[in-house]
Amino acid sequence: MKIAITGKGGVGKTTLTSLLAYAYAEKGFQVLAIDADPAPCLADALAFPQELLDELTPIARMDDLIYERTGAQPGTTGGFFKINPRVDDIPDRFSAVHRGIRLLEMGAVELGGSGCICPESAILRALTTYILLQRNEVILLDMYAGVEHLGRATASAVDAMLIVVEPTKRSMGTAAQIKSLAEDIRLKNLYIVGSKVQGEEDEKFIEDNSPGLPVIGYLPYDPHVRQADREGTALYDLAPRMAEATRSIARALEEVREE
Ligand SMILES: Nc1ncnc2c1ncn2[C@@H]1O[C@H](COP(=O)(O)OP(=O)(O)OP(=O)(O)O)[C@@H](O)[C@H]1O
Ligand SMILES: [Mg+2]
Repeated sequence: MKIAITGKGGVGKTTLTSLLAYAYAEKGFQVLAIDADPAPCLADALAFPQELLDELTPIARMDDLIYERTGAQPGTTGGFFKINPRVDDIPDRFSAVHRGIRLLEMGAVELGGSGCICPESAILRALTTYILLQRNEVILLDMYAGVEHLGRATASAVDAMLIVVEPTKRSMGTAAQIKSLAEDIRLKNLYIVGSKVQGEEDEKFIEDNSPGLPVIGYLPYDPHVRQADREGTALYDLAPRMAEATRSIARALEEVREE
């Protein structure tokens, strides 16, 4: 099962990704969680131990690897490099595993004036494609913004895309924009997840303002999120209400896939 998680900045994408990772791991699935944020923070949300974090470097910052695979130094543009570098060994070699969850940090491509035709982006694109088309775990892709990591070639491998929203007009507006970009690349099974919800009024607001997409679940506003962050513990362990809401979303996603 392959799930992409998007939404406006700060709505709770990483929180949801970490919760789903634990929910699926608890069910016995192998989970591969991918942090596509330029400033990775999924590891913290998952409460990975420090010694594992110390070993983890985002792929986009692995200059030697990028050079070895593409034949060009990162940061160079306009020269020749392999646009289809070998990446099949990267997910296992450069990730960390904790409690049944494998975490891979992608890192960001420094976008120069030339757009993103550079060796780093070639690696990240090849890696995303490889993972979505070839790996068989539950894949959770925490995407920091829109859908730019995905293209038409990979969209068909994504079983569902979750657009996380808060009960605010702005986050609903972003959801509508993401929906239209996602439809351009023919992503299927788009769902809204309502986050930081405080009661029925918030749920109704989200339903009424959804850009024509079904709501697959809600996560309550919960002070445990902050507590988990401060203590460095996994929210899934700390907040039974959050865990239960997440399990319900996880089940609904499994049904989507079976259809
Ligand atoms: N259900 C919730 N209840 C209370 N606070 C929450 C909840 N979900 C997220 N938060 C808080 O909102 C903030 C953003 O959460 P998170 O990092 O998960 O969002 P994000 O969408 O991944 O953000 P970014 O766009 O920066 O990657 C954090 O401070 C987090 O503690
Ligand atoms: Mg995030």
